[in-house]
Amino acid sequence: MADLKNIFEKNEKWIQEKLQIDKDYFKNLSKGQSPEILYIGCSDSRIPAEDMMGAEPGEVFVHRNVANQVVTTDFNLNAVVQYAVEVLKVKHIVICGHYECGGIKAALNPSDMGQINSWLQNLRDVYRLHAKEIKLITDPVKRFDRLVELNVLEQAINVLKIDHVQKVWSQGGELKIHGWVFDIRSGKIIDLNLNMEKEFAKIKDIYDLGQS
Ligand code: CO
Repeated sequence: MADLKNIFEKNEKWIQEKLQIDKDYFKNLSKGQSPEILYIGCSDSRIPAEDMMGAEPGEVFVHRNVANQVVTTDFNLNAVVQYAVEVLKVKHIVICGHYECGGIKAALNPSDMGQINSWLQNLRDVYRLHAKEIKLITDPVKRFDRLVELNVLEQAINVLKIDHVQKVWSQGGELKIHGWVFDIRSGKIIDLNLNMEKEFAKIKDIYDLGQS
């Protein structure tokens, strides 16, 4: 078992490194935050959210869960989104999935996993919605990869359904939704170039909550 003591030693080293560059580093950090990005990603320990974006503390508001899902009954997620768009007034919401996502793999191999199952249910719904396309892909790696991408698309669509997000738009606020995939095999962030205005137009008839 790893001894956590060395984490505190590393923390001391990190503090000294920051202070060497800027003696007011933590003084400035404690003043407040005004990030422009809300990042919603997977909890996977191999995804260094801020690191891979080259982001400094204060630049990205982060929410992570298993397989980067936007579940509309999730209080945690809803509170994060509301705070991000209403108080922090972020300009971008990023849904970031990643290849080799264990959550996606588990969803495609149903078994009794207790609470995890109900969480993975949403991923199975993504599969069901796109089953026709996914079943045509014979290569198992490519099939998983495509489901990772389609999960990002569906979670980005779920963001559109949130009243706080629709409210910003109806008030003419600046807010863009993005879908990314972190390619864990190369380190690259792939922009899926989703057109969320187009996606909203497609579902507007039943999902527009009339926030204007
Ligand atoms: Co994952």
